[in-house]
Amino acid sequence: EKEKTLAIIKPDGLLGNYTNDIKRKVLEYGFSISKEKIVHLDEVTVKRFYAEHSSKSFFSSLINYMTSGPVLVMVLEKDNAIADWRALMGPTDASKAKITHPHSIRAMCGLNTEKNCVHGSDSSKSAQREISFFFGELSTDVITEHD
Ligand code: CMP
Repeated sequence: EKEKTLAIIKPDGLLGNYTNDIKRKVLEYGFSISKEKIVHLDEVTVKRFYAEHSSKSFFSSLINYMTSGPVLVMVLEKDNAIADWRALMGPTDASKAKITHPHSIRAMCGLNTEKNCVHGSDSSKSAQREISFFFGELSTDVITEHD
């Protein structure tokens, strides 16, 4: 069976009109998008999602960033999806990605270590948690955009 991972196009990626370019790369690299939705996360929800970073110095800034606009959340599927999506995103620090991984998504649309345009699960355990966080039965408190 194919592996699943959770991907997020963050507010700068979505508002900067990078969605089509990102999706083109996703499909080109052999992923299928099995679920997707646009949500505008509130503070409580982002804090829960990034709970493991709650003691970090960048936490409050990360929460501001992730609540600054809508995000696109996707479940991506392929063999080795978790590692392959992380490779396609490139390094966390988008300013370094531009030099070391010029064809990566973060090189294309990220700015720096925080505003890095996309998220991907870092292990199969977090993929399971993050997919059910956004798409499981208990995900009803995530605020959904109505345009
Ligand atoms: P992400 O992969 O979604 O996981 C945690 C996020 O915190 C990360 O992407 C960045 O957006 C942000 N982040 C990680 N490290 C730093 C840092 N050193 N300074 C600011 N933001 C960071």
